[in-house]
Amino acid sequence: MDLYQRLKSRRLLVVTGKGGVGKSAMTAALGRSLAARGRRTLVLEVDPRENLHQLLDVPPSGGEVTRVAADLYLQNLKPKAVVDWLVDEKVPIPMLARRVKESPVYQRFVEGAPGLQEMAIIGHCLRVVSGQAFSRPRIDTVILDAPATGHGIYLLTAPRLFAEAITDGPFHHLAQQGADFVADPDDAGLVIVTLAEEMPVQEALELRQALAERFGRQPDLLITNGLYPPLPPDAAGAGDPLLELWRRRRRINEDELARLERDWQGPKVELPLLPIDRGPALIGALQERLEAVLLGPRGAA
Ligand SMILES: Nc1ncnc2c1ncn2[C@@H]1O[C@H](COP(=O)(O)OP(=O)(O)OP(=O)(O)O)[C@@H](O)[C@H]1O
Ligand SMILES: [Mg+2]
Repeated sequence: MDLYQRLKSRRLLVVTGKGGVGKSAMTAALGRSLAARGRRTLVLEVDPRENLHQLLDVPPSGGEVTRVAADLYLQNLKPKAVVDWLVDEKVPIPMLARRVKESPVYQRFVEGAPGLQEMAIIGHCLRVVSGQAFSRPRIDTVILDAPATGHGIYLLTAPRLFAEAITDGPFHHLAQQGADFVADPDDAGLVIVTLAEEMPVQEALELRQALAERFGRQPDLLITNGLYPPLPPDAAGAGDPLLELWRRRRRINEDELARLERDWQGPKVELPLLPIDRGPALIGALQERLEAVLLGPRGAA
């Protein structure tokens, strides 16, 4: 199966990487791309700063699944809401469910239990693609814009740890299913985004290593984003501080690209820093460039 087909066949794609490298932009561009090829796609963000809607040019989702375009949907999820839904489901008497949710023990559990939020996010993804969270629309793929906090791999390992710690009941059940879901090499894939700079590349390499150790798997794709274009050979400007800055940034990029060439086995895509402000136009341009690499010049899916 070629690379694009593999991405398109995933039921879950987790987009991860260091803070500020372009995870949200790539999530939006990939979402647009898969949806344009008929894969019914939910772009899921768990960041309370809620900004994917701006990139996709729709009003904020307010926690609900919002339609963005044909076959493309967006949701901003609060992990606590998933845990609340689970209580509502298991405690069918609304007054009792409300009492549970208002109790200090429950509040402490939701905020403090290690791995609970991650387990809830993955559990939600699973419920969405298996039609349990929404019967309509039926979603084929969830693209998860992973939170920048913590190590991306924890999102994938937390359900297993949680299922081992809480050995019974609905939370155990959801965690167990989530753990099986992320471990299934046909279901879930990881897309790592980085800049060609030392720290994000280091983190990308560590993520790949952790994925290999914990799951015996490779990421589906590495996207090296925001590359400074090479300085035109006729650019004179000796002493011009802006050209010097450009030249320096480009040199760092080239060093890190060489390091990735050496240390990264597996599919990768490079994307330039584009002179376009944050917003739908940027996403369109990034989608086009991603597709040019992933699908070839003819763009046939
Ligand atoms: N290739 C690019 N060219 C130009 N601007 C870009 C490119 N990629 C991302 N950006 C811009 O860089 C900034 C960071 O991107 P984005 O918000 O997608 O990163 P992020 O990894 O989601 O950040 P965070 O970790 O804070 O969630 C945004 O303003 C975005 O519009
Ligand atoms: Mg983001």
